[in-house]
Amino acid sequence: MKTIELTSKVIEYQREELPEDLADLLAQAQVAAKKAYSPYSRFQVGAAILLNNGVVVTGSNQENAVYPCGLCAERTTAFSASAQYPEVPFSKIAITAINPDEPLSIPVSPCGSCRQVLFEYEQKFNQPIEVILSGQTGPIYVFHCVGDLLPYTFHAGFLP
Ligand code: THU
Repeated sequence: MKTIELTSKVIEYQREELPEDLADLLAQAQVAAKKAYSPYSRFQVGAAILLNNGVVVTGSNQENAVYPCGLCAERTTAFSASAQYPEVPFSKIAITAINPDEPLSIPVSPCGSCRQVLFEYEQKFNQPIEVILSGQTGPIYVFHCVGDLLPYTFHAGFLP
């Protein structure tokens, strides 16, 4: 037997260090977060996806009185982008959140289902999707690709 050890690379930026193109995308995610429909959790999440054609698609979490019917901001945004531009690869996604009770000082982290969905588009276009994660204050994390956030992923290659 042997032990396989994984390492994960993430770049941590202080806010003032973030490259301008990433800061622009993050600013659009911050605007999107304010449009969340989240009367139940009151947690507002926003995402902005930059496509290869230069278009930015934004989205936010959408909740429902039947709780499982709601959807995270990342999936709302990814499905919207793919529905509108089915043949255009995703280049980057910025994700941020607003906690109404106490400003979020660590980068928000996408849930497993959202990672899985984003990974599908990364595979579909065979192009890394850069992931920018931010809270309301504090550092910003940048991952080179979704695969770095989701090792040992189930993917289409397993299917018959
Ligand atoms: N949520 C997101 O939109 N994205 C995440 O990465 C984590 C959680 C939403 C789902 C729900 O509307 C609220 O935040 C609380 O979980």
